[in-house]
Amino acid sequence: MNQLNQTDYGTPARQSENLVTIEIDGVEVQVAAGTSVMRAAVEAGVNVPKLCATDSLEPFGSCRLCLVEIEGRRGYPASCTTPCEPGMKVKTQSPKLASLRKGVMELYISDHPLDCLTCPTNGNCELQDMAGVVGLREVRYGYEGKNHLELKKDESNPYFTYDASKCIVCNRCVRACEETQGTFALTISGRGFESRVSPGQSQPFMESECVSCGACVDACPTATLTEKTVIMMGQAEHSKITTCAYCGVGCSFKAEMKGNEVVRMVPNKDGHANHGHSCVKGRFAWGYATHKDRMLKPMIRKNITDPWKEVSWDEALNYAASEFRRIQTKFGKDSIGGITSSRCTNEETYLVQKLVRAAFGNNNVDTCARVCHSPTGFGLKQTLGESAGTQTFDSVMKSDVIMIIGANPAAAHPVFASQMKRRLRQGAKLIVIDPRTTEMVKSPHIQADYHLKLKPGTNVAVITALAHVIMSEKLFDADYIAQRCDTESFEHWTKFVLKPENSPEAMEPITGVSAEELRGAARMYAQGNNGAIYYGLGVTEHAQGSTMVIGIANLAMATGNVGREGVGVNPLRGQNNVQGSCDMGSFPHELPGYRHISDTTIRTQFEQAWDCTLNPEPGLRIPNMFDAALSGSFKGLYCEGEDIVQSDPNTQHVTAALSAMECIVVQDIFLNETAKYAHVFLPGSSFLEKDGTFTNAERRISRVRKVMPPKAGKSDWEVTVALSNALGYPMNYKHPSEIMDEIAALTPTFKGVSYKRLEELGSIQWPCNDAAPNGTPTMHIDQFVRGKGKFINTQFFATTEKVTPKFPLILTTGRILSQYNVGAQTRRTENVHWHNEDLLEIHPHDAEDRGIKTNTLVGIESRAGHTVLRALVTERMQPGVVYTTFHFPESGANVITTDNSDWATNCPEYKVTAVQVMPVLQQSEWQQKYSQFHEQQMGLLKENAEEAGIK
Ligand code: SF4
Ligand code: SF4
Ligand code: SF4
Ligand code: FES
Repeated sequence: MNQLNQTDYGTPARQSENLVTIEIDGVEVQVAAGTSVMRAAVEAGVNVPKLCATDSLEPFGSCRLCLVEIEGRRGYPASCTTPCEPGMKVKTQSPKLASLRKGVMELYISDHPLDCLTCPTNGNCELQDMAGVVGLREVRYGYEGKNHLELKKDESNPYFTYDASKCIVCNRCVRACEETQGTFALTISGRGFESRVSPGQSQPFMESECVSCGACVDACPTATLTEKTVIMMGQAEHSKITTCAYCGVGCSFKAEMKGNEVVRMVPNKDGHANHGHSCVKGRFAWGYATHKDRMLKPMIRKNITDPWKEVSWDEALNYAASEFRRIQTKFGKDSIGGITSSRCTNEETYLVQKLVRAAFGNNNVDTCARVCHSPTGFGLKQTLGESAGTQTFDSVMKSDVIMIIGANPAAAHPVFASQMKRRLRQGAKLIVIDPRTTEMVKSPHIQADYHLKLKPGTNVAVITALAHVIMSEKLFDADYIAQRCDTESFEHWTKFVLKPENSPEAMEPITGVSAEELRGAARMYAQGNNGAIYYGLGVTEHAQGSTMVIGIANLAMATGNVGREGVGVNPLRGQNNVQGSCDMGSFPHELPGYRHISDTTIRTQFEQAWDCTLNPEPGLRIPNMFDAALSGSFKGLYCEGEDIVQSDPNTQHVTAALSAMECIVVQDIFLNETAKYAHVFLPGSSFLEKDGTFTNAERRISRVRKVMPPKAGKSDWEVTVALSNALGYPMNYKHPSEIMDEIAALTPTFKGVSYKRLEELGSIQWPCNDAAPNGTPTMHIDQFVRGKGKFINTQFFATTEKVTPKFPLILTTGRILSQYNVGAQTRRTENVHWHNEDLLEIHPHDAEDRGIKTNTLVGIESRAGHTVLRALVTERMQPGVVYTTFHFPESGANVITTDNSDWATNCPEYKVTAVQVMPVLQQSEWQQKYSQFHEQQMGLLKENAEEAGIK
C-alpha cells in the first residue's frame, strides 16, 4: 500500500557509470544504464500506469498496464521490464495504449468487489487509482461471471489480514517475501483463473513460515494485505520520520498518524539502514507505547514494602535529590551512582553521565553495554584504535565471504539478515561459527558453506586455530601488513599462532570442530577476496570476550580485510542505541568519545564546559556497584530505562544488592522488575514521545522524532534536567538539539553533528568532523585510527565454568525474533502470539537420556540457582548444550547464569553456564518466591491506585 507522500519509481534504481539518454513523451532524460523505461519516465515527470511494478522489487511484467510505444519497435512493450537504450523515443499515451489499458483494468475490476467506499484502503489503493488513471467507465464483462468475491479472509496474523477476494494476483507480495525479506513463505498456487496467493502449503499465515515482517503488506497495491490498525482506524493524515526503538539495525520509519495516534509504522524507503524494509518488531510491535501498564505518575515510598504514593513531579524529584544528598552526607560522595540504558537516546545517556559526574561528583556511571558489547569497545580500541564497527550495512553487498560468529541476525538483526541473505543468494560464501544450527546456517536458498559448531566457551581456540591455518599456509596479506600494521606485534603474534598447540588438529578435542572443516573455513575466508566478519553476543559474553574480539581483529588485519567496502569487523549491537550509549561516555572510566577520565587535558575541557570539578579516578562498574552495595558502601542508584534485575546475571545477587540500598530511583515506562525494588519511580517516555537521536551498529546517528506529547508530561531528558536542578547542579536545555550541540562541541568524532545536518543528510555515520563533513561510512581506509594496526596474542584459557557429573550440560542464552531483550515492550504487544514463554531447547539425545519430551517441565540447575521451563526438543542444538531466551521475568534465565565475567571488561559470561536438566513437576523455589514478590508489589501499586480513587 502506498506510503504517504512517497514517489514510487516502479522499478529499483540501477548503479552504473554509463549514462543513457532517452526521450519520453518529448522530454529528454538521462539515466544510469539498465534503468527501466518506467523509472526513467517517473524521473522525467511522466507517470506510466502500473500495478505489478513497485520500486522495491525487480520488475515482473505481469499486469500489462504499463505498456508503451517505442519508436521503431513493434508491439507494446511493458515499460517496467524494458531497459532504456540510447536514443529511444517512448510514447506513454496514445488512443491504442489507452484502450489496451482500459481492457486490462476491466478484467481486473470484473473480479473485484465494488466496495470502495467501505474498503479500508479507500483513498490509498493503487487499483482504485489506476482505474481512475485509465479512465475506466464501464466493465463490459459485467460482474456476474466466474469470480473470487466469496473467498474467505485469513485473519490469523495479529497485525494484518489477507482478503483473498481483493487479490489481483500481481505477485508483488510473493516477490517481496523472496527478494526483500528472503523468507519465501508465499507462492502463487493454482493456474490461470484459479491462481491465488498462498502462504506455505495453503496454510493460514500464522501457520506458515511467515515471520510477519510486513514486506508483503507494503508491496500489496490493493486492500488484500492490510494492517489491522488501518482497518480499524482508517487512513493516516500525516506522518513523521523517526527511528525504530528496538534493535541495533536502527531502521527508519514513517510514523503515519491521525492526530496524536499512530495508525501504522511504515519502513522508510529513504532509510539508510533499512531501505524500506522492517521486521515484525519495528513494523508492528509499537502498541506497548499506549499499553494500559504504562506508568504515568511519579511515585515515592520509604521502603519497598510500603505502598507507592503518587506525587507531583516536583515532589518526586525533590525527594530523590534529598535522598541522594542524605546518603552522600552519611556514606560519602561515592555512595551513589547511575545506570544508563541503550534503549535511551544519545542525549538522554549523555545527560545521565553528566549528572553523575557533575552533580553526584563521582564517576559511578555505567551502561547496559557492560553486559553486552563492552569487550567490543575494548578489543577494537586496542587493535584498530576505535571502539566501533568498521562498515555500513550496505557494505555486505560487496562481500565475497561472510563469516558470522556468535550471532543470529535472522532473530536479532532481521533487516540486516535479509540484506545479508540477498548477498548470499547472489553467490557470496558463508561461514557460521555457532554452537547452534541457527536460521543463518540453513534457510530457504541459504546453506552455510561451513558451520563450525563449536562447544560454547571455545571461541578463542577456534579463532586462534583459524589464524594458525592462515599463517602456516601463508594465506596472509603480506603487503597490507607491511604497509598498515605494527610489524613487531605481527611477528610476535605469528610466532604465537604458529605454535603446534594452536593448530586445528590440537584444538579439535577442545572445540569439537573438525580440523578439516576449520582448515576449509580459514582458506575460504583468507582466499575469497572481500571477507567480512559479523559477530554478536556469542563472541562478547564470555570470560574471554575481549580476547575473542581481539582475535577477530587480528584475523581481519592478517588477511587485509579492513579499510574498504565489503570487508571489516562488524559487531552486531543488540539494542537500538548500544553504540550511542558507549559513545556518550556512559562508562566509569571514559568521558564521551572514549576519552579516559584520568586525562587531565580532556578532563579540563569538560570541567570548563560543565563548570564543575571532575574526579580523575574511574568509578564503579555495574557489578562493582552490586558488590559495594552488599558490602554497605553503595546506597543510592539512579537507573534510567534499564531493567538490571531481569537482564543482569545471577539475579539473586542483583536483588540482594538492590535490597541493601536506601534509595533506588527508576525511570521507566513500565514498573519493571528493577522498579519493584525502587523507592522513587519517575515515569519515562516511549520513543514516540520524545526528540533525540539513536546511533546504530554502523555508527549511524539518526533522529528520533516526537510524534505525540509525552504521556506523563515530561520527556526523559527533561526528567534528568529536572533531577539535576533539584540536586543543585543547573541544567538549562530547552531542546535535545542543544544537548547534541554540547556533545559535538566536546567530542571530536561528533564535531560536525547537529540536528540541522541530520535534517540535511538524513543520518550521519560518525566520525563526522572537518575531515569528514558528511560522516564516515567505512573506517580505517588509509590507515588505522590508532596508526598501525596492532596484533595481540590470544592465548586460549578454558573458562572456569566447567561441566562436571553434577552439571553435565552447558547452557547458552540468546534471543528470538518476536521478542526483544527483557521483553518489557514486546511482551505487551501481539508478538506474544509467536513466543509467550521462554523454552529450554535441548538435543534429542540429551532429552531421551533424561526422559524429556517437548513441553516437559524441566528444572535447570546451575551453581548459581535453579529455575524451571518447558522443554523444546530440537536438532538445532548439539548434544551437551542447551539453550534458552530471557524475555520473560518469571523464567528466571538469569537466576541460573553465574557472575563469571570477561577478564577485561566484566561483561558477564552469559553464554556458558554448566547445568543439569531434569524433568520436574512444579516451579522452582525462586519462581514461587518471584510470584509472591510480584503479587506483593502489584498489591502495593493497587493500594496506591485505590487511595487515589483509580480502579
Ligand atoms: S509478512 Fe514477511 S515473511 Fe510474512 S509473508 Fe509477508 S513478506 Fe513473507
Ligand atoms: S495479495 Fe496483494 S500483492 Fe499479493 S498478489 Fe494479491 S494483490 Fe498482489
Ligand atoms: S527491530 Fe531492528 S530490524 Fe526490526 S524494525 Fe527495528 S531496527 Fe529494524
Ligand atoms: S507494471 Fe509493468 S507489467 Fe505490470
